[in-house]
Amino acid sequence: MIIGSISENNKIEKRISITPDIAKKYIDSGFNILIEGGLGSHLDISDDEFLKKGCKIEKKENILKQSDIILQLNIPEESCVDHIKQNSILIGNFNSNQNFEKIDKFKIKKASVFSLELLPRITRAQSMDILSSQANLAGYKAVVDSFAQFKRAIPMMMTAAGTISAAKVLIVGAGVAGLQAIATAKRMGAIVFATDVRMASKEQVESLGGKFLSVDGSENLETEGGYAKETSYEFKKKQEDLLTENLKKIDIVICTALIPGKKAPLIIKEKMIDNMQPGSVIYDLAASQGGNSAYTKVDEVVQKNGVTILGEKNILNKLPVSASNLYAKNLFNFVLNLYDKKNNKININLEDEIINKTLVK
Ligand code: NAI
Repeated sequence: MIIGSISENNKIEKRISITPDIAKKYIDSGFNILIEGGLGSHLDISDDEFLKKGCKIEKKENILKQSDIILQLNIPEESCVDHIKQNSILIGNFNSNQNFEKIDKFKIKKASVFSLELLPRITRAQSMDILSSQANLAGYKAVVDSFAQFKRAIPMMMTAAGTISAAKVLIVGAGVAGLQAIATAKRMGAIVFATDVRMASKEQVESLGGKFLSVDGSENLETEGGYAKETSYEFKKKQEDLLTENLKKIDIVICTALIPGKKAPLIIKEKMIDNMQPGSVIYDLAASQGGNSAYTKVDEVVQKNGVTILGEKNILNKLPVSASNLYAKNLFNFVLNLYDKKNNKININLEDEIINKTLVK
């Protein structure tokens, strides 16, 4: 059984799907690994490191022709369809809702395409959960980057020359990215506030040392799957009043609010930003889904009345080595779940919820 991976377009994607350590794990499990030369060179991972682990370096076309399983981040270019092996398996983070036409092209070769953003968030799938592993890093990096933009110190400092007060940070949305953002901001000495529509998050925020801002009299807006429901007009109004008041004293806001399958809710409105202190910073992690904040522009630094608003399409490109390590491990666990070792074949068992939900149909 051959697993292959070809280079991504490094201008837009710096992560890789197989690292040398994970390649070794595949090889130990009985797979052969083919990778394109230079796959990890932009991450200071040389071809030699892959060769030492037992991988083979091949040209792109040969990898596509020979591989039973192809591991990627983004859906490969259309030109790859001609080369891929009939009945092969393609696994990645293909944003299948937006890219179904591109994905469909690979079905001409009877390829089975698995897109892991579709993974159900169930306990058994945790080790394969690319959304969680990547959002965790995104939450961390959003804090680090916004702190770097902030022109003051973060922790409280008592010095002979006077006292510097601790920065106040608000995290909007306390899911995976938000909880990591709280933990990171706390570790760096900030006073941290957070808000969410799910009541379960209150306890999690408080266990990390954050102060939870509750919207008065709000009901718990959580689905059975643990995700957020869309909020009512009344809730939005109350949330707006709560945040408008609190934002006046907040220095840094990290936005992570998300409702699966929907445009990101607009939470930090123009007039709230107008009331913020000059020098404040907003990092909008939801930028590419429309943004939680007014004025957000993807991959641009926006200045509005002294407030800096940041938001990138792919913040993971700023810590691609850590992101690749976790992503590659998630994929490895997913492949093992597909693999019938005894018969050395892939078993697309549609009764397995993980396999069924991630297969793009
Ligand atoms: P998640 O689903 O775990 O968390 C989102 C949280 O927002 C949930 O706790 C939800 O209850 C809360 N929420 C929803 N509506 C809300 C509202 N109106 N007010 C307050 N809270 C609300 O999502 P995750 O995995 O933490 O991702 C967070 C965001 O970060 C997403 O938009 C995701 O796409 C983005 N992201 C961006 C990356 C980038 O490179 N720009 C990389 C990874 C994630």
